[in-house]
Amino acid sequence: MDAEPLTIYFDGDPLPARPGDTVSAALLRAGHLATTRSPKYRRPRGPYCLIGECGTCQLRIAGQPNLRACLTVVQEGLVVESQNAWGPAGLDPTRLVDHLFRRGFDHHHFLVRPRLANVAMQAIARTMTGFGVLPELPRPGAPPPELHEHVPTVLVLGAGPAGRALTGALEAAGVDVLALDRRDRLGLSRWHPAPLPQRLLVDTGAFGVYAPERLIAAASPPLAGGSPRLHLVRPKHIVFATGAREGMIPLLNNDLPGVLAARGLAHLLERTDSQLTAPCVLLGDGEEAEALAAQLGVHRYAPADVERILGRDHVEGIVVAGRTIPCGVILLAPTRAPISELAAQAGAQLRFDGAGFAVLTDPDGRALLAPRPPDADDDPAEPPWQIWACGHVRNTSVDPTADGLAVAAALLAELAASEPS
Ligand code: FES
Repeated sequence: MDAEPLTIYFDGDPLPARPGDTVSAALLRAGHLATTRSPKYRRPRGPYCLIGECGTCQLRIAGQPNLRACLTVVQEGLVVESQNAWGPAGLDPTRLVDHLFRRGFDHHHFLVRPRLANVAMQAIARTMTGFGVLPELPRPGAPPPELHEHVPTVLVLGAGPAGRALTGALEAAGVDVLALDRRDRLGLSRWHPAPLPQRLLVDTGAFGVYAPERLIAAASPPLAGGSPRLHLVRPKHIVFATGAREGMIPLLNNDLPGVLAARGLAHLLERTDSQLTAPCVLLGDGEEAEALAAQLGVHRYAPADVERILGRDHVEGIVVAGRTIPCGVILLAPTRAPISELAAQAGAQLRFDGAGFAVLTDPDGRALLAPRPPDADDDPAEPPWQIWACGHVRNTSVDPTADGLAVAAALLAELAASEPS
């Protein structure tokens, strides 16, 4: 039986949504491509990657600024507001600035005197170029963040296909494993359920790896009525299953609303059981781009043949070999780049794979560590930890589920070997 539809509000207007939709899914289905503007050049912006990695979808949601619409799951009555825009899909009065100063202006020296004019100019510029508006100040006496300490045998960062496969195998063998994921995997899987780790902290982003203390710090938003949560995790083994982010294909106007990552959109359509209805083309090379074009039923062009993307506030077409092809959505299937920043903080060596930096591992998934500097402030009381990587963070061409299982087998063998006999 179909679940009951929901209503959310976008800039005051009611919008239908389905349970399990993200805010971006509901907005795209309703044809809202442009939802904000870039802070400096006031370029119209809408979602691109649809997996929480590019930040172009940020909106004010339930009074909180700068939330990623592509990760926020809808609820009945959710209030969503565009930010940094006056009528994002329509006229933008700030464009008058471009007409008044056709050659641009040097904002370091513009209106430096008289002082009052400078104060007014700075106030206007700061208002226009900030990102979002702060929420109301916390209530006086608001409770401080809750501190949670965890000492699991294995910490898995990322509950995508690789992290889920690895965690499932470790849990089946009785290993004490904690998984963190900065997405709301529970909310996102409601529509398209997937087995998730038993001990999973969702909406929980690891923001720091403190190698000398063998410590990972992560933060979660408050549970209903509570305080934000700060997690300090001291594992014996860390597995980075952080995946890969979408790259970009260098083309004029590739930032226009309506340019979407093909993989992100394919997942979204599958998860929400939706169809692509807008006229659409896909740009990309290689087998995966071909497979995505076939899956989505759209025509594919090689990026090298595309001269430019047409449009002003959103995509209107592309020019290929001098021919204009009208379309409302352009899907890009670039090479992905591993999300390896935290692994590098933890001391893992990286290798350039042509699109980004992958974690360098042995065949079993053990990360090769950079030598610690002689003056490193390592805590001698803390036992060394083992760092692992599985899935696209170590190789964007592997099958992430199979790789997660393979690394789990190696990790289990190492745990068994280290147990006292
Ligand atoms: S972060 Fe939401 S579309 Fe990229």
